[in-house]
Amino acid sequence: MNKMTVKDIDLKGRTVLMRADFNVPQDADLNITDDTRIRATLPTIKYILQNGAKRLILMSHLGRPDGKVVEKYSLQPVAKKLGELLGEPVKFLDDCVGDNIKKECEGTKERVVLLENLRFHAEEETNDANFAKQLASLGEVFVNDAFGTAHRAHASTEGVTHYLKAVAGFLLEKEIQYLGGTVANPQKPFVVILGGAKVSDKIGVIENLLPKCDMILIGGGMCYTFLMAQGKKIGSSKLEKEKLDLAKGLLAKAKQLDKEIVLPIDNLVADKIDAQAKTELVGENIPDGKIGVDIGPKTIALFETKLKTAKTICWNGPLGIFEMDAFSKGTGEIAKFISTLPATTIIGGGDTAAAVAKFKLEDKMTHISTGGGASLEFLEGKTLPGVAALANKA
Ligand code: 3PG
Repeated sequence: MNKMTVKDIDLKGRTVLMRADFNVPQDADLNITDDTRIRATLPTIKYILQNGAKRLILMSHLGRPDGKVVEKYSLQPVAKKLGELLGEPVKFLDDCVGDNIKKECEGTKERVVLLENLRFHAEEETNDANFAKQLASLGEVFVNDAFGTAHRAHASTEGVTHYLKAVAGFLLEKEIQYLGGTVANPQKPFVVILGGAKVSDKIGVIENLLPKCDMILIGGGMCYTFLMAQGKKIGSSKLEKEKLDLAKGLLAKAKQLDKEIVLPIDNLVADKIDAQAKTELVGENIPDGKIGVDIGPKTIALFETKLKTAKTICWNGPLGIFEMDAFSKGTGEIAKFISTLPATTIIGGGDTAAAVAKFKLEDKMTHISTGGGASLEFLEGKTLPGVAALANKA
């Protein structure tokens, strides 16, 4: 990575402003149900504290409150959790800009401060220059460790970099090394697994990765549009009609490049999307009225054959409706299988990361991205504004 990191700057006696992605899931009682994103920033936070920084001011968004104060999106529970994980108190401030906040940041006895949700101000998402300047005034140097939000050109990711020296944290660096390294220089054979609900979400990834990989295995809701493009019957399964020609075009392009796109040869189907629904296994063609909900056992075996010699595997999108146990076998079996391979396994964030966590295989993958949309845009070959804005290495 040609971007400066937290290791390239002098932290001694300085107040560090850091953007993290603490957009974590919570239950109805606001208990954090998955603290992966908080844990993932600990190496950067600890490094900053251990290398003499006077104070660390952390900022993040949570949810999409649309510029209004929405109680359930407060970052207060994150401050508590972070304090527990760090083993030292984290001072929580109830706003992120203003004279009082600035004074509190300067006067607090705690070394670590967490500001309230940036998105309680509409100016965060509009990347308002004055708002960015106010945020920047809270620190002397800026560290961005929020990979999950690096695809957003917001005041706290891009705007602040106009006013402070801006460098990457270790999480951002690691994400770029794995996701970027995979795309730029994969060890072959390089097999891509794609799933998830919509073809439209993955077009950019297919177009970017097709020339670089050896084959793409497709399952999940998006596979039915491809199956139809191949002339198969898909019953009442999810179809993106307006993407049919595009799917045909991608299949033709793969042929032209001599790359394989592998589609399901059997399917688990149901009468309705309901955990109690009656299911049956069918072949490539799905009967009228039936809905494809998972890949079938022959497809699992076929995908395993294709994956077993891979040296690099990149997976984005579950292969069935894995949230329902009855429809989770395909995703679970493939996750288990790749976790046993000697290959480099790169897992996209969001749903794919959640699927791997459901099967408790997090420790068995090479890298699991903390970015959902960000990892997708990165795999599409796009430049992420939060990354582009950081200082380049000399
Ligand atoms: C995510 O969860 O993908 C990031 O935190 C970004 O959130 P956003 O899609 O609301 O910008």
